[in-house]
Order: sequence, then C-alpha cells, then structure tokens
Amino acid sequence: MQNKKVYILAIESSCDDTSAAVLCNDEVLSNVIATQKIHEEYGGVIPELASRAHQQHIVPVVHQALAKANIDKKQLSAIAFTRGPGLLGSLLVGTSFAKSLSLALGVPLIEVNHMEAHILSHYIREEGVKKPEFPFLAMTISGGHTQIVLVKDYFQMEVLGETLDDAVGEAFDKSAKLLGLTYPGGPLIDRFGQKGNPKAFPFPKPRVDGLNFSFSGLKTSILYFVQRETAKNPDFVQENLNDICASIQFTITEILMDKLKKAVKQTKIKQIAIGGGVSANSGIRKALARAEEVMGWTTFIPQFEYCTDNAAMIGIVGYYKFLQEDFTDPSVTALARYKLGTS
Ligand code: KG4
Ligand code: ZN
Repeated sequence: MQNKKVYILAIESSCDDTSAAVLCNDEVLSNVIATQKIHEEYGGVIPELASRAHQQHIVPVVHQALAKANIDKKQLSAIAFTRGPGLLGSLLVGTSFAKSLSLALGVPLIEVNHMEAHILSHYIREEGVKKPEFPFLAMTISGGHTQIVLVKDYFQMEVLGETLDDAVGEAFDKSAKLLGLTYPGGPLIDRFGQKGNPKAFPFPKPRVDGLNFSFSGLKTSILYFVQRETAKNPDFVQENLNDICASIQFTITEILMDKLKKAVKQTKIKQIAIGGGVSANSGIRKALARAEEVMGWTTFIPQFEYCTDNAAMIGIVGYYKFLQEDFTDPSVTALARYKLGTS
C-alpha cells in the first residue's frame, strides 16, 4: 500500500469558500479556492447565499482542480469531503457532490472533520519545512474557530479549550465594524495597528477559567469606548484609528498568548502548531516568535494558503484515512456540529 501512489480528490464547503484539491500521497498537486465575495456587502457570511454560491462554484472548482493537477478522474483513489462542523446548507453541497462522485467512479468515500483538517494541514509536504512531532499543541484561530487541542497522534486529539462565544476572527471583524471598517476587518486592524501604539487604550481582558476563551466582552467594551469617546469628539475614531487598532490587536494577542502559556505549563509541551486565517496577524506572529526566543517554544505555521479554509487540508486527512482504510458509508449525512475526536 505504502509504495502505491494514492490520488485523493478533496472537497471543502463548510463556510464561504468552495475548494477542491488533488493530492498525490501527502503532496498537493492542486488546491483551487473560490472565495465568495457576496458576503462583503452584508458584513458577514449569509448562510443561504453561501450554499447557493457553493452550488454555482463546485463543478468548475472540481474541474479546475483536476485540470491543474493534470489528473483524469479515473485515476482517483478516493474522494474526501468535509462532513462538518460548519453551516449545514454549505456542507450539504460538498457532501452530496462527494457522495455522487464516489458512487459514479466506484471509489471509496472519506469523511473529514474540518477541525482535524486544520490541525493535520501541518503534514502537507512542503520542501524544507519542519513538521511538529507528536505530541504537540495546536491552536486553530479563524473567523469560525478558536481552539487549543492536545494532539497525541493523527487521530487522537483532545480539545483542551475553546471559545464560549465569538471566535477570535469574529472579535477582529466585529471590532473593525464598530470602527467603520469593511468586512472582513481583521486584516485592516492589523494594517492600521502596525502604525499605532498598542498600549494607547487599555481594554480589559476577560476572566475565563481553564483554557477556554471568551471574546464577546471585549467587543462590548470597545463599543462603549467608541460611543463614549465619539460623544466627546465625533472625529475620535478617525484621529486615533492606528492607536485603537494597535490596542485591540494587542489585547487579543495577549488573550491568546496567556492561554497558550497556560496550556504549555499544564501539558509541558512546547511544540505549538498554529492554523486558521487569523494566524496571518502580525502581532500574533511577533508574540509567537518572542515565545520561541524567551521560552524555548517551537512554533509551526503552514503557508497561508493552507491556514485559511482550503481543500488541501481535507485531502491530507483523506490520505491518512485512506492508508488506514477508514472509509465512509455512502449513506453519510453532513453534520453542522461535529466534535473533534469522534470521526
Ligand atoms: O480561516 P479563515 O480564512 O476563514 C474561516 O473563518 O474559517 O479566517 C478568516 C478570518 C477573518 O475573521 C479575518 O478577519 C481573519 O481571519 N484574518 C485576520 C487577518 N487575516 C485574516 N485577522 C487579524 N489579522 C489578520 N492579518
Ligand atoms: Zn476553518
């Protein structure tokens, strides 16, 4: 089995990105992502529009992934797809497509947990890039997720902490909205924040037990702060945008780093693998680099294409499951809630 080349077609449709990828073993041959722009107008993802857009994108995206990989669908060994967690209507599009294609081609179907895929994306082959060794800690930070996970083996994972309300990306995006910035505002907060003073406006950090997170209080305190200051000076936000963004970014970074330090202390594991779109944030990256120097951590961040939602990460899980012959019955249904470690 190991010597044979395994070709996996992977499909991801859990939120607002339609993606298809082809992998040959652990190597990515293509990773096509159609991002849905329609949600920008609404300042957030509208589930009904997302599933409609997936329906429009899925066939061309799969065709493109096969063409870029220069693979005929008859060569495929299996079809991997995101079963959950995510938006049910969006997941249904990818799930139905994957089921039909596996039946039509007579190849196995492999269900993938999206959160597991963010973590195992680190095992996509990248020339000269070091990989985490088991056991390690994984922190997934994106618009939909905030989790710290103890990864004991490919399919042995334990959630140590997660958000009780908003995801960290939502905290960035909702704060940005309060400042009048466009969606998604996370990258804008980062851009303006780099020119500002991170200690200009101290925002309170939430007190949450253990390794769980909460970001909804931060959003409320920013709302009250903006209301209070603009009542005194209507131009307050424009005049202080860089400092406000730097302060928000600093607070969010501190919240994440405090919990990571706690997780390291608790598990005595100093290998930290980061994933999710928020890992692009310059403040978080600087804090992680500092932790490598000061506390001897080893941190891992895959290339950005594999951090945001993408099908290549679904494909790598598909590959490892294929090796274990862990296949899925075609009667499978999508799961909006899908706990890590139960696949
Ligand atoms: O992983 P992702 O592309 O999609 C999912 O949510 O699954 O993550 C998108 C999130 C958005 O909330 C966006 O604002 C945030 O990642 N983001 C950033 C940065 N780049 C993307 N947040 C802060 N700083 C950034 N540089
Ligand atoms: Zn994701």
